[in-house]
Amino acid sequence: MGSAEGDLEPRSGRGADSPGRIVVVSAEAFPGEAARILAAALRHVVSDAGGAGVSLALAGGSTPRPVYERLADEAVPWDAVEVYFGDERCVPPEDPASNYRMARETLLDRIPFPASRVHRIACESGDPDAAADRYAALLPDPLDVLVLGIGEDGHTASLFPGGRALEETDRRVAPGRAPEGQGAPRQRVTVTPPVIRSARRIVVLAEGSRKAAAVHRALEEPWNPAGCPAQLARSGTWILDRAAAASLRTPGQGEVRDEGTP
Ligand code: 6PG
Repeated sequence: MGSAEGDLEPRSGRGADSPGRIVVVSAEAFPGEAARILAAALRHVVSDAGGAGVSLALAGGSTPRPVYERLADEAVPWDAVEVYFGDERCVPPEDPASNYRMARETLLDRIPFPASRVHRIACESGDPDAAADRYAALLPDPLDVLVLGIGEDGHTASLFPGGRALEETDRRVAPGRAPEGQGAPRQRVTVTPPVIRSARRIVVLAEGSRKAAAVHRALEEPWNPAGCPAQLARSGTWILDRAAAASLRTPGQGEVRDEGTP
């Protein structure tokens, strides 16, 4: 399922539960291909906006790390981009678990980017509810480009199966709480389903065999975002390495690109 080069398939007019675009690449090509697609999309969005500011919300976790490093070397009109976050762990910005710190180290410190255009979720103060409301007040509606990941349990951002934030229909940003065993701080602040549903373009990054079952559930199982929150991003562009795509029944529906694909 192809698309105009450089666009992440605008989601307007497409049902949230309808499949979007799937790009499958080798593990070696994954970071570079994901960075290339993201950069092309940002150029496209900025051009569509006539040079007005566009909003890019970044995902956290570990998968994006090599992608952001390569994105820093891509040609992107950064002076037209405002950076936000899809979720954050409630830790100080210099904490190794901070999604803001990860984005700063891999991307923001490596491009000419003023701090005034980086909007981190400041939720380390111990009142995630107030932090969520402060962030909702500055988060653009809709977002132009939203980058998401997926957990082995099917979560995305910090929307976990059965979590209260998943039921939000009014608040655009809310506290979230990771279940035991996620290996990162449990208290979070996250965008909610309305933000994912309204995002103009979504790109989901997933690599590794550990994600294969969750990717299959998110893209091919019956619609059940309460059980698999990443289904909320089903109509976006999914960039997968072959291991993460291994459980897809219809891998052929995606574009399989090998290294060096122009
Ligand atoms: C976070 C992320 C989260 C992440 C998934 C996948 O704060 O951890 O926003 O949604 O994307 O948990 O994480 P990995 O990329 O580390 O597998």
